[in-house]
Amino acid sequence: MTDRYAVIGNPIAHSKSPQIHAAFARLTFQDMAYEAILAPVDGFAAAVRAFIAAGGRGLNVTVPFKLEAYALADTRSPRAEAAKAVNTLAFSDAGIHGDNTDGLGLVADLTRNLGLELAGKRLLLLGAGGAARGVLLPLMAERPAVLTLANRTAAKARQLLAEFLPHADGCPMDAGGFAELSGRQFDLVINATAASLADEAPPLPAGLYAPGSLAYDMVYGRETPFLAAARAQGAARLADGLGMLVEQAAESFFLWRGVRPDTAPILAQLRAS
Ligand code: ATR
Repeated sequence: MTDRYAVIGNPIAHSKSPQIHAAFARLTFQDMAYEAILAPVDGFAAAVRAFIAAGGRGLNVTVPFKLEAYALADTRSPRAEAAKAVNTLAFSDAGIHGDNTDGLGLVADLTRNLGLELAGKRLLLLGAGGAARGVLLPLMAERPAVLTLANRTAAKARQLLAEFLPHADGCPMDAGGFAELSGRQFDLVINATAASLADEAPPLPAGLYAPGSLAYDMVYGRETPFLAAARAQGAARLADGLGMLVEQAAESFFLWRGVRPDTAPILAQLRAS
């Protein structure tokens, strides 16, 4: 019988995940189906249970359900525990297992697709919500020279820092508001705020971009105000989050199927369309 998987969210119609996983399944000869499920905002758990009852094997979870997925899981990976958010669910007789592949997806995109060496680099992560939290642990593991957290509400960045410092394992970290960044330079600036969704750019001081630096927006499909501002401010390279989307999908696929698909063909295909 064909194994069933899906992405669940609200809204979900725009999701590229069905296209990505269908391509992975073709490439790796997996007998599986992957659909998109629109769950009512107050009906996430019921929709998951219904999918399990219908024989579902796993789900990708997207906005706004990542925290609920975390709460619903019977067991969780350490990186999901740290993120306090789950983007991948796997179902078995042992129950519901929750994982978070967003951070690995980002690091894979930065290092493999964009060819960036993160060790020894000055990293700036913008935002202190779920998107930032989800990528912190894998970024810290790359051993940057410094990992700075900055947020519109400075107190939230400091709180995030306090929470993750026990896991820092020698990775130098600091946190504050945007204004406190004045006079500093970074090799990589990652926008994990929700500003792009409102078509706004985080209000950053000038001069943040070091020579050769990369500006990365987790949002994909267009040059966001953050990327446009980074270009104007002298960032040498710009990247959107399409590669992260494909790479986090590949990590989820690996968790479910035990095979790691080649991501280059589907990423090229999505870029071309
Ligand atoms: P997500 O799960 O996408 O991270 P979230 O938890 O609601 O969503 O967090 C949104 C993040 O984007 C927060 O860091 C928020 O800053 P505040 O903590 O100050 O609210 C940030 N954000 C949203 N709109 C922004 C904007 N226009 N400029 C800068 N930061 C913004």
